[in-house]
Amino acid sequence: MKSPRDKRRDSRPHRPARDDGQKPRPRDDRDDTRTRPSPRHETAAADRVVATPAPPRVLARREGALPAERLPLILEVAPNADYALLDSGSGQKLEQYGPYRIVRPEGQAIWQKALPAKDWDRADAIFTGDTDEEGIGRWRFPRTPLGETWPMKHDGIDYLGRFTSFRHVGVFPEQASHWDHMAGLITAARRPVKVLNLFGYTGLASLVAARAGAEVTHVDASKKAIGWARENQEMAGLTGKPIRWIVEDAMKFAEREERRGSRYDIVLFDPPAYGRGPKGEVWQLFEDLPALTDLCRSILTPKPLAVVLTAYSIRSSFFAVHALMRDTFAGMGGTVESGELIIREQSAGRALSTSLFSRWVA
Ligand SMILES: C[S@@+](CC[C@H](N)C(=O)[O-])C[C@H]1O[C@@H](n2cnc3c(N)ncnc32)[C@H](O)[C@@H]1O
Repeated sequence: MKSPRDKRRDSRPHRPARDDGQKPRPRDDRDDTRTRPSPRHETAAADRVVATPAPPRVLARREGALPAERLPLILEVAPNADYALLDSGSGQKLEQYGPYRIVRPEGQAIWQKALPAKDWDRADAIFTGDTDEEGIGRWRFPRTPLGETWPMKHDGIDYLGRFTSFRHVGVFPEQASHWDHMAGLITAARRPVKVLNLFGYTGLASLVAARAGAEVTHVDASKKAIGWARENQEMAGLTGKPIRWIVEDAMKFAEREERRGSRYDIVLFDPPAYGRGPKGEVWQLFEDLPALTDLCRSILTPKPLAVVLTAYSIRSSFFAVHALMRDTFAGMGGTVESGELIIREQSAGRALSTSLFSRWVA
């Protein structure tokens, strides 16, 4: 029998994940535009290999007391030396990424800019998104022409910022709240800790976990993103640390780990609203999240530390992901904490909301 995602996959031509060959689209939300196919570019590739569909996961209600709960929890990234949201307003945001001042569209910034035009005019890079070109062509550099990548740091970890076609810059700074929390858990555990990072993108979370002493498995559907993540590992001088880099569909990988009996102490999953596995597997957040959350629980060690879910670009509330996580972790004790990830603006102290999250902590 075919699962809903296998049926969806079979009925569409194969498309690789965003950032791995898909053409840009003008609109650009945090995730779904990174992976959502654009009809203009639906090239037939039905001749590509399509994996044998796995049977659908049967979801039963988990027995036992629900975990304690803590919400709303707002996790905030304040301006710091590595990254600062300098100002926002009129549908744009002005950010400092390492050496560069960058202007990007920001749909949520419906207020007025707090800084004068002269501060915005000093930008090094502006996302225009006005061509169909891949990568850097969608950026304008008012001062000096810049290369695709530039040196960045997070809490002493060196990595590369990069101008991509989809207004992204190779990092999601609001995730730093999760990275710090996770690093704290790993250090405090004082034992070997295994971390699984699903939908890992350019790998910052994996690097933070590895530096804190964990053995890390990093999974992403995009070969290109995995290449960038490996480059970051080199930049960070962490090549000696145990990180497995895997190009794979997140759901399939988790299913395989469950079958093999591979177990993890911490699972991070930061899925897009819509995505594609390397063999055309379709990821739809609303349809597939319950099964993946359930799988994440199944692949935990007997003494797990945490499961961290982030959700972007969806019409939902943190109450929805909270209820899903709490139900899924029934009988495991601990606490489910849910809320939003925000970035605090430097100019007027306003909060820019970026995403919902829910995490179970032992
Ligand atoms: C939201 S980003 C993850 C951001 C990352 N956690 C971070 O903080 O930098 C989404 C990632 O999911 C990947 N992706 C999309 N569909 C996928 C799938 N079916 N399986 C695995 N990865 C997928 C994309 O290639 C992209 O790198």
